[in-house]
Amino acid sequence: MNLKKIVDIYRNIFGKESKNLLTVSAPGRINLIGEHTDYNGGFVLPIAIDRNIYMAGAKRNDRIIRIYSIDYDQNVQFDLDSIRFNKEKMWVNYIAGVLKSLLEINADISGADIVFGGDIPEGAGLSSSAALEVATVYFFKILFDLEISSIEMIKLCQKAENKFVGVNCGIMDQFVSMLGEKDHALFLDCKNLSYENILLKLEGFNVVVCNTNLKRELAGSEYNKRRATCEKAVSSLKRFLPQIGMLRDVSIEEFEKYKYVLDKVAQKRCKHVLYENRRVLDAVNALGRNDILEFGRLMNESHKSLKKDYEVSCSELDIMVDIARSINGVIGARMTGGGFGGCTVNIVKKEVLDKFFRAVNKEYEKRTSIKPGIYICNPENGSRRL
Ligand code: GLA
Repeated sequence: MNLKKIVDIYRNIFGKESKNLLTVSAPGRINLIGEHTDYNGGFVLPIAIDRNIYMAGAKRNDRIIRIYSIDYDQNVQFDLDSIRFNKEKMWVNYIAGVLKSLLEINADISGADIVFGGDIPEGAGLSSSAALEVATVYFFKILFDLEISSIEMIKLCQKAENKFVGVNCGIMDQFVSMLGEKDHALFLDCKNLSYENILLKLEGFNVVVCNTNLKRELAGSEYNKRRATCEKAVSSLKRFLPQIGMLRDVSIEEFEKYKYVLDKVAQKRCKHVLYENRRVLDAVNALGRNDILEFGRLMNESHKSLKKDYEVSCSELDIMVDIARSINGVIGARMTGGGFGGCTVNIVKKEVLDKFFRAVNKEYEKRTSIKPGIYICNPENGSRRL
């Protein structure tokens, strides 16, 4: 996907002059460590990747939104004053949800003609939907010169997904898609939304993403259940710890002392979240000391915990991780994102990259009968005007 292609498609679809066409992009993400911690007010360390949603369009003088999705080859039209959930074309809801959220804060927007497309593999856990939300809000901010901060835009996107699409996701994906920085990982405290872009110096190593090509569905899945279990655990622990608002507020020592009030499953879920938070802090320290080996070790621990305690891995993800770890020179491998399919993230020594590609391609297909996807990822910038 490139700018010229998008502009050509726009002209073909809407048949208009493309002089005043606004074009923006927003990237997908992978998370290095800190999984299922965001909606518990914890810590995360994602990077924005060089796969994007691209959006181009122009204002209209009425309240009509016309959108063409390049990848789905579908057109949709709706009125800003009667936004409804679209059961047939799910992709529309990410855009419509953001527009609804904008209208709810009385943003002064009107209609637009839009085309969009992208190169983020869908359903791979690389947050193509968050990227679509972020591209949309950023596009409308610039098109209508809205006075709205990045953090407000991020929150609007999350609200669109929670309330309109119906997925109770945290804030990580939208945050890094909006504010990620080239060559940096984004260290985010999901409780107070303070963040720092940390230089990702992995001399001699690459971040490599492996796609299980097992599609994952977040909506209506185990995801909302995990979140509910964590929230219920907080209510139970409040009896002893009245000051806590989120799981993140519970220290490991307090958890170990009072965990007996929780059932066995809730104990495992909370254990993952609290120790994962600590792992993120340790991982950030390790990066600061240039201790890549320790960073990798923490990633491995994270996977173990996601598999055993949070139970969001699956056999394909575990096989992918096992194959990666069997290669000398892979110092960390774990599932990334919500789980139940999607991708793994690996820290791979540059000298063994060829071997890594060959082994994953061959072994993964042999063991699962699915062809994997493999990409080298460098941290890229978040949303931008093209
Ligand atoms: C999905 C959600 C995020 C986060 C991850 C798990 O990607 O959208 O908010 O909860 O899962 O870490």
